[in-house]
Amino acid sequence: MTDNSIVEFDPFNETFIQNPYQYFDSLRSLGGFSFTGNGMGIASSYSDVRNLLEDRRFSVSPSPVSGLHERQASRYVCADVARQVLAFMDPPGHTALKQCLSSVYLQSLRSLSPDIQSRATELFARAIEKPRADLLREFATPLATAIISDIMGIPETDREQVRIWSRSFFRMFNLIPSIEVFRQMNADVGAFRSYMEKLLQTRRKNTLAKDSSVDVISQINCLCIENKEIDVSTAIASCMFLAAAGNVNVDSAIALAIRNLLLFPEKLEALRKEPELISNAADELLRFDTPTQIINRRATTTFEFKGKEIKRDTPVLLLIGSANRDPAKYMDPDVLHFGRPQTRNLTFGTGAHSCLGASLVKSQLSSAITALVSTTRPVMLTDEPQSFELRTGHRWLKSLDVNCG
Ligand code: HEM
Repeated sequence: MTDNSIVEFDPFNETFIQNPYQYFDSLRSLGGFSFTGNGMGIASSYSDVRNLLEDRRFSVSPSPVSGLHERQASRYVCADVARQVLAFMDPPGHTALKQCLSSVYLQSLRSLSPDIQSRATELFARAIEKPRADLLREFATPLATAIISDIMGIPETDREQVRIWSRSFFRMFNLIPSIEVFRQMNADVGAFRSYMEKLLQTRRKNTLAKDSSVDVISQINCLCIENKEIDVSTAIASCMFLAAAGNVNVDSAIALAIRNLLLFPEKLEALRKEPELISNAADELLRFDTPTQIINRRATTTFEFKGKEIKRDTPVLLLIGSANRDPAKYMDPDVLHFGRPQTRNLTFGTGAHSCLGASLVKSQLSSAITALVSTTRPVMLTDEPQSFELRTGHRWLKSLDVNCG
C-alpha cells in the first residue's frame, strides 16, 4: 500500500483471513477512507465507518451486478428471498418491517425468558468432562442453536438442519469465492425457504386452534394472517433471517471470546478475581475480535466524502473490525482492557440497520464467560494453531480445540 487514494485489497488472501488486524492498521494509517483498484470504497477508521453506517445516501440492497439483485429473482431463489430480507431493505419498507420484527422478537424474548446461564453451565461442564474438547462444536454452537431455536419455536428434530442452512444463508452477506459456492448457497436457501414455509403453515393451524405459544414464528404468523401487516413471503424470509442470525455469528463470538481469554490467561485470572467485570468484559471482547468484520453498502447518488468522489452505485465496504481497533477512538486498541469505559463499539452496527440481537448475544457471551471463569478444571488451548473459515465478511473459527485437565 503506497498511495493514499488506491489500495490493494484481496479479501480472499489467506494471511488476511487468518489475521486481518495488521492490514487494517496499515489501511487506517492512509486516512480512513480509500478506494481499491477496482473502484470499491473502503472505510477503516471508527469515525468514517460510523458516519457511513448512518449515512442515508447508501443503500443496503444488492448491487445491479450481484446474483442477489432483484432482477435475478426469477433465476435464483436466493435473489427472490433477498428481496424480503430486512437487512437488504431500504426505507420505507425497512422501517415498517423492522418495527414489526423488533416488537415480536422482544415479546418472545421477554415471555419465554430462556435460562441461558443454566444451559451454558451444563453444556460447558459436559464439554470439558473429557481430556480434550472442541469448544466451538461442543459448547458455543449448541448453546447458540438451543437459545435461538427456543425463541423462534424451531422443533428439536430440525435444529441441526436449520443451523446448516443458516450458515449458507449468511453467504448472502459475503463475497462469493466461486460459482460452486454460489450454487450450493442458492440450493440451501431454496431448501431453507421450503422448510420455513411448511413450518409456518403447520404453526398456523396451532395458532388458529388458539395455542397460546409466543415463539417468534407463531407471532410472525399472526402478523401475516390475522393482522395482515406483512405478506406470506416476507413472513417466511423474516423467520429465515432471524433464525439464521441467531444461529451463526453468536457461536463465533463465544468461541472468539474464549480463545482470547485463553490466549491471555492473566485476563481470565482477572475475571476469576473480579467476576463483576464479566459484563464489561463481554463488551470488550466483542470490540476486540468481532465475528462480523465487514458490512456492504452501495451509494445511491454521487457525492463527495473527505475530498473524494463516491460515484452512484459504488460498492463501499465498512470495516467494523478495523473501526473497533482504531487508536483514534480507543487507547491501546490491541489490548484487552476490561475496565475500559465501553463507549459504543460498532460490533452490532449503528443507525437504521443496527442489530436486533445485541442484548441476546451479550447475555449468551456473559454466561459463557461465567461458565469458563467458574470451572475448577484447567482449560488450555492445544498446541495446534486455530484457523478461520474462508469467509470475506465474517471471522469464524473452524474449531476451538482445548485440553481440559
Ligand atoms: C455475535 C452475534 C451478532 C453480531 C456480531 C451481529 C451483528 C450485526 C450487525 C453488524 C448488523 C448491522 C448490519 C448492517 O448495518 O448492515 C446486524 C443486523 C441485524 N442483526 Fe445482528 N448480529 C449478531 C446476532 C444477532 C442475533 C442473535 C439476532 C437476532 C436473532 C440478530 C438480528 C439482527 C437483525 C434483525 C439485523 C438487521 C437489522 C436491519 O437491517 O435493520 N443479530 N447484526
